[in-house]
Amino acid sequence: MYTLFYGALITPVSLTEHRTLPHALLAVERETGDIAWIEDNVPASSLQDVLARRGILSLEDVDLVELKLGEFLMPGFIDTHIHAPQVPNIGSGQQYELLDWLEHVTFPMEARFEDEHFARRAYTSVIKRTIDYGSTTCCYYGTLHLEGTKALAEVIHKYGQRAFVGKCNMDRNSPPNYVEPSAAASLAATRALIAHIRALPPPPGRAGEPLVRPILTPRFAISCSHELLAGLGALAAEDPALHIQTHISENAGEIRFTKELFPPASLPKPPAPLPSNGATGEAKVVKNGKKLESTYAGVYDAFGLLRRNTVLAHAVHLEDEEVEIIKAREAGISHCPTSNFNLRSGCARIGMLLDHGIKVSLGTDVSGGFSPSILSAVQHASMCSKVVATQARTPPPPGTRFTDRQLPVPTLLYLATQGGADVCDIGERVGSLAPGKAFDALVVSVRSDVGNPATWGVDMDLELGVREAELGEDESEEVELESFLERFLFCGDDRNVRRVYVQGRLIGGKDFGM
Ligand code: GUN
Ligand code: FE
Repeated sequence: MYTLFYGALITPVSLTEHRTLPHALLAVERETGDIAWIEDNVPASSLQDVLARRGILSLEDVDLVELKLGEFLMPGFIDTHIHAPQVPNIGSGQQYELLDWLEHVTFPMEARFEDEHFARRAYTSVIKRTIDYGSTTCCYYGTLHLEGTKALAEVIHKYGQRAFVGKCNMDRNSPPNYVEPSAAASLAATRALIAHIRALPPPPGRAGEPLVRPILTPRFAISCSHELLAGLGALAAEDPALHIQTHISENAGEIRFTKELFPPASLPKPPAPLPSNGATGEAKVVKNGKKLESTYAGVYDAFGLLRRNTVLAHAVHLEDEEVEIIKAREAGISHCPTSNFNLRSGCARIGMLLDHGIKVSLGTDVSGGFSPSILSAVQHASMCSKVVATQARTPPPPGTRFTDRQLPVPTLLYLATQGGADVCDIGERVGSLAPGKAFDALVVSVRSDVGNPATWGVDMDLELGVREAELGEDESEEVELESFLERFLFCGDDRNVRRVYVQGRLIGGKDFGM
C-alpha cells in the first residue's frame, strides 16, 4: 500500500522560504504514486509509534527506504526549456551568437532528425541523461519533423518522465533543407502530433493523468509567417488547455529582425482585451497600446499566444511594456542563464521580474546551454544575479525584494522546482513535496562514496571531527541540512542524484537498476 521514506527532507514553500526536516517520514501511495502523508519530526525512538498511529502494524506491509546521514529527499527538477535534438551538439559552437549559431551549428544537427531511426536512438540517450540528472519534468522542443517528434514523445512515455513535447513550427527564415513547405503543412503536422501524444496509453499510477502532453512550439517569431502564427493562435483559442512555448527577447540581432518582420500595421488585434487594472502597471499597457504592438511580446500577444500556460524562454532584453503584458497574461519565463552567458545574449533581470510577480523558472536550453543539468542553471542563475547586482548603478529600489540583488538559496531552489511547476501550470500537482501531490522526487546524497570530488562528503566531516556524531545543542540539524543543500546546488552533479521518481515510480538516478 505505501512506500515509506524515512530521513531528511527539503521542500520549497515560497520564493524566500523552504522547509528542512532532518527526520521526516513520507508515505507514497503505491497505487496512485501520490504522496499520502508526511510526518515532520519522527525521531528513531518513536518510529514504531508513528507507524502504528498511521495503521501500519508490520513493516512487511510497506517498503521502507531509510536515508543515511548526508542523504535527503527533495522535489525533482523542472527544466522548462530544453531542445532534445541539440543534446548531441553540447559543447560545440560557443564562439557564435544566436543567429549565426542557429545557422552553423544547430539547424544542421536538427535536420538529421528527419531520419526517424536516428531520432529514436538519439532521443533514447537524451531522455536517460535528463532523467539521471534529476529532471522529473521537461519542456522539450523536438525538431520540425512529425515522425521524429512522435518518437521523442514515445521514448519519454516509455521511460516514465513527465514532459511537454512540441514540434517546432518554422515555415520561413530557415535553411532550404530544414524548413516546412507552408503554414498549412506546419499546422497539419502540429495537429497530428497533438493527436498522437494524446492517444498514448495512460501510464501506471494516478488514473487518467497523462505524464506526456503536447505543447505548441512556434520556434520563435522569426521562423514563423504571419499565417502560421495566426493558425497557431486559432488552434490555441480552440483548446485552452494546450500549452505553448517559444523564445522571446534573447539577443539584440534577433529582436531587431523580429521587429522588421512584424511592423505594428501587420499585426491583428489581440484576441483578448488588453488588461487595464494590472496590479503593477495599471493602465500602462492600454495607454501605450501602440508601443506594445511594436515590441517582441506584442507580436505573440497579437496572435493570442500569451496566456497562463505559455512558457517564454530567455526574456533577457524585455521592454517595460513587455513586462506588463507578460504579467497581465500570466505567462511564465524560463530563465536560461547558462545559454545566455554561452551565446553572449546577456543577463536577464530575474529579480525585477520576480518583483513584478511574474512566474519564473529555470531552463537548460541545451545546446545554447552546454549542460543538461538544472544544477548548472542554478549555479549560473546565481552568478547572473550577482552580475546584475554588481552592475546596478543605484541601490535596489525601495519596496523591492529581489531587484538588483543576488538570488538566495531558497529562491534558487524554488525556481528549479515549484517555480517550474507554476510556469508549466501544473503547480498544484508537482514542484514540492506535500500530501496530495505526485511523488516526483529525488534522493540526493552528499556523501563521499558517490565519487564526486567537488562535493565535500558529510562522512569526511565526521572523520575529521568537523561534525560530531551527535550534534551539540547549539548546532541545529536544520542548519546542517541547509549546508547539504547548498553543497549539492553549487557543487553537485549526476553522481549526487541517487534515485529519481516520477509519479511514485523509480525511473533513474545512479542507484537505479543496482
Ligand atoms: N531561438 C530560436 N531557436 C532557438 C534555439 O534553438 N535555441 C535558442 N537558444 N534560441 C533559439
Ligand atoms: Fe532555446
